[in-house]
Amino acid sequence: MLSIKNLKVNREGLEILKGISLNIKKGETHVLMGPNGSGKSTLANSLMANPDYEVTSGSIVLNQSDITKLDVSERAKKGLFLAFQYPVEVPGVPLIQFLKLAYTEKTGTSITPGAFLKLINEVAKDLDIKQSLLDRYLNEGFSGGEKKKIEILQMAVLNPEFVILDETDSGLDVTALKTIFKYVNQIKISKNMGVLVVTHYSRILEFLKPDFVHIMKEGKLVKSGGIELAEEIEKDGYKTLVDVN
Ligand SMILES: Nc1ncnc2c1ncn2[C@@H]1O[C@H](COP(=O)(O)OP(=O)(O)OP(=O)(O)O)[C@@H](O)[C@H]1O
Ligand SMILES: [Mg+2]
Repeated sequence: MLSIKNLKVNREGLEILKGISLNIKKGETHVLMGPNGSGKSTLANSLMANPDYEVTSGSIVLNQSDITKLDVSERAKKGLFLAFQYPVEVPGVPLIQFLKLAYTEKTGTSITPGAFLKLINEVAKDLDIKQSLLDRYLNEGFSGGEKKKIEILQMAVLNPEFVILDETDSGLDVTALKTIFKYVNQIKISKNMGVLVVTHYSRILEFLKPDFVHIMKEGKLVKSGGIELAEEIEKDGYKTLVDVN
């Protein structure tokens, strides 16, 4: 289980997260929604130990071990994966080489180039990623949607226990949206992953099939429920939640 306990986080000395508690079990999908600036990316970044975010109190516990003070690579080794809202470009690093490095770093095992290519090609097929994309440098000149697909490819290769996807749906066309979130749901089931997805759009939920929907507002989780909560937001926006505190 990934357990977030009364987490308070500062950015540039300003308190952004004001006590977040959330438990995510393996095999569960949680969706996090909330107005712009409510702190969703701050939570995602804090979970992945982004050094710009200072945890001032509370803890993050992964399978009963306290990971609050671990850095990003230590957390990744323990089975966390984060896809960023704005994926980075790494010019000059071929995509396949990057993925293989990430794989050996995470698993601590080596894999033959042939076996690795086979693994990549299987996932690429499921995600409808063109072979020509795999031969290029990481994210260099990739379209927004292509970057998102490559992130999901990276996730599948690293085989994490828990995955945090921050606005993976933004900028995706309807076909890519369906392909990606159906795939996430499929590997969540087959690998029994725990998933936390940050999104503004309830349209992904029919593919993702979340167990829980949480609403963040001004650095706090103000409401939790099922898919119906996302439908409510789609219809009425966040205004009805304004006074919940
Ligand atoms: N460097 C910074 N200095 C001060 N405040 C910051 C800094 N970075 C982020 N913030 C503030 O932290 C708050 C939370 O930002 P965050 O990116 O977590 O929101 P979000 O919920 O992900 O929003 P969105 O839906 O727009 O992605 C915002 O008010 C933002 O302005
Ligand atoms: Mg954000």
